Amino acid sequence: MILITGATGAVGRPLVEFLAGQGAEVRAVTRAPESADLPAGVEVVEGDPSRPDTVAPHLDGVAAVFLHSRTFGETADRLLSLARERGATRVVALSAMNVDDPLELQPSRYRGDRNKESEEAAVASGLEWTSLRVSSFAGNTLQAWGAQIRAGDVVRYVYAAFEESLIDERDLVEVAARALLTDELAGRRLELTGPQSLSHEQMVAVIARVIGRPLRYHEVPPEAAQQAMIGNGLPEPFVEALMARYAAYVQWQQHPVTDEVEKILGRPARTYAEWVADHVAGFQN
Ligand SMILES: NC(=O)c1ccc[n+]([C@@H]2O[C@H](COP(=O)([O-])OP(=O)(O)OC[C@H]3O[C@@H](n4cnc5c(N)ncnc54)[C@H](OP(=O)(O)O)[C@@H]3O)[C@@H](O)[C@H]2O)c1
Repeated sequence: MILITGATGAVGRPLVEFLAGQGAEVRAVTRAPESADLPAGVEVVEGDPSRPDTVAPHLDGVAAVFLHSRTFGETADRLLSLARERGATRVVALSAMNVDDPLELQPSRYRGDRNKESEEAAVASGLEWTSLRVSSFAGNTLQAWGAQIRAGDVVRYVYAAFEESLIDERDLVEVAARALLTDELAGRRLELTGPQSLSHEQMVAVIARVIGRPLRYHEVPPEAAQQAMIGNGLPEPFVEALMARYAAYVQWQQHPVTDEVEKILGRPARTYAEWVADHVAGFQN
């Protein structure tokens, strides 16, 4: 049995679906089972990983745990020691490629994400571990620019030249599944990226080509963008760290391409253009 935390989210849901499709026994943890809407055959259980005692009753019979870095608050060690006590032997930790950066350049920490702690708890757990040090998700671009592209042809955003290698979440999911189902990736911190590094402006050009629209990137000063994002409800410390990250890395690629996905899966990582093609509806009205 594989226990998945964060099972209803952008990573967890496709991971649950992929594992179930491979015939694996999956137990999905969610705080809201009534609305989880996961595939038939998946055991959906109620629990909140940030309160490990609520997950404890669901650990019996679990061999491997997927530790999702948004879910456990400050309790990853406790969660994994409970899993080990109940007989688990393996943990796969969702982490991030920027975990060794100064904390003020890791925006997601300001929303409660704990990528560093996820990896550290896995390594210290006494379980067979794998850490998934992932570059930025391709889905971030839909969150950042989707509304503007649905509304018109101009994308107003910061740092046109900022470059990174976005990963297709499905590649992350397939690597995670490999790590959960086999011992091939045990004891490794895997730096997982997409197959090419693209600037913000190049990403928008890819979207334009794939959806067949004349999109234009209009660079705006960070201060103006920051005010707009805070006005739209994003927490100020998060936005400040995001802008600091862009400023710190605008001269070089933040996440240089690695070939880990291809080496592990035996096929090239999916391109950003493929990701856009599979999410065209999100960019259209
Ligand atoms: N976006 C990126 O570029 C990137 C890159 C590297 C690493 N990461 C890391 O990946 C994680 C985000 O993954 P994701 O996109 O799958 O997240 P997500 O879509 O927000 O899903 C996370 C799931 O975890 C549960 N959850 C959310 N907040 C929680 C909380 N405070 N306490 C307990 N459970 C909570 C929710 O499930 P229920 O409501 O069903 O309980 C939710 O569906 C973050 O830790 C992020 O730092 C992201």
